[in-house]
Amino acid sequence: MDNQNLLKTKSQERLDFYKSHNKIFYQDDIKKWVVIDEELIKLILKNDQFKSLTFNLDLYEKRFSLDLFYVKKLAEFNPLQEYIHPANVLRRDLSQLMASRLDLSLTANKTMIIELVDSEFNSAKTFDVSISFFQKLVADLFSNLTLIPIDINFFKQHPAVTLVHLNSLKHIIALNDWIKEVVCSHKEIDAIYLHLSLLMLGSNTLLGALQESFVQTLLEHKDKKFSQMYWPLGVNKSSAPFTERIVYHDIKILDKNLKKGEIVRLYLEAPFLTSDSKDQKLTDLFFGFGMHQCIGKKLSGEVWQSLTEAFRQINFHGNVLSVKYNDHDVFFDTPLSLEIQLY
Ligand code: HEM
Repeated sequence: MDNQNLLKTKSQERLDFYKSHNKIFYQDDIKKWVVIDEELIKLILKNDQFKSLTFNLDLYEKRFSLDLFYVKKLAEFNPLQEYIHPANVLRRDLSQLMASRLDLSLTANKTMIIELVDSEFNSAKTFDVSISFFQKLVADLFSNLTLIPIDINFFKQHPAVTLVHLNSLKHIIALNDWIKEVVCSHKEIDAIYLHLSLLMLGSNTLLGALQESFVQTLLEHKDKKFSQMYWPLGVNKSSAPFTERIVYHDIKILDKNLKKGEIVRLYLEAPFLTSDSKDQKLTDLFFGFGMHQCIGKKLSGEVWQSLTEAFRQINFHGNVLSVKYNDHDVFFDTPLSLEIQLY
């Protein structure tokens, strides 16, 4: 068997797990309820008896005698946290911010994407397409969209920045220092937190979904040129396989009794991966559902379209040699190294 057959994306690895389980079950090793059924996932995401998780960073501060002022302040601007600013107000502010930058960023992004594809995919070679292409693309895109200049070291230094509690203490401290630097060099303090919030919520997810969908397409089209491959209309692999909610009041779902305080993990990708239908509605679930549905969905689709338009012009074959994820990343599927051969 050659390398192309041995390689599997993380979502392909999870497929057996989804196929062998019921709609909802309790997973002992993580001590959480797990839901893989589309209707149940939607039901939970629109039911206010389930709340998104808030992270008590005060506990970290006390236990390790730290000052995490900047990370805590940023958490206030994350609509998923909901504990200081109401989520609907933040969603409005974030959407307005995106709208005010979008014309500029869309034109700039499309040109930037075409130029980057032209410069990186122009000769037969073996290279790390994550570092020299995808990370650069997402870093440039978010520098255009937000007021924050970021470079590709951002992804190495701050993996999976959305869910701060899942990161190591080292990463939380590094993030706190970095936010401090960004905030101190800007005058409009509140505006900069909104920009940071977009960056935190959108950059890893976008980077991961673009790369996972790219790898998947190459693996499915062995011995074909980029120009002959079928490039899906939207991303068909997500980087955020699940989201979580906490049970607010005891509730019965199917025959299961969920207790207040228990955590429910919703595998957003499962219905799409296990279904024979490649219906767009199922991939839409990648972006969440209900009151916290992703506000970067349209932008993500546009970026993928520009990217695949440019890939359709490439006359090289692509062979995936290796995919490496960040060890600290328990939440996202975001390759930080993706070696491919163009021939
Ligand atoms: C393909 C890439 C992306 C995927 C798969 C994705 C996925 C998601 C998911 C699943 C949620 C809901 C989380 C939950 O309900 O717990 C979410 C929320 C969010 N996403 Fe994305 N996202 C992507 C790209 C982006 C981009 C590019 C941006 C911004 C430029 C963005 C901004 C946000 C924001 C602000 C929220 C929070 C919405 C809220 O809490 O009300 N996302 N995303």
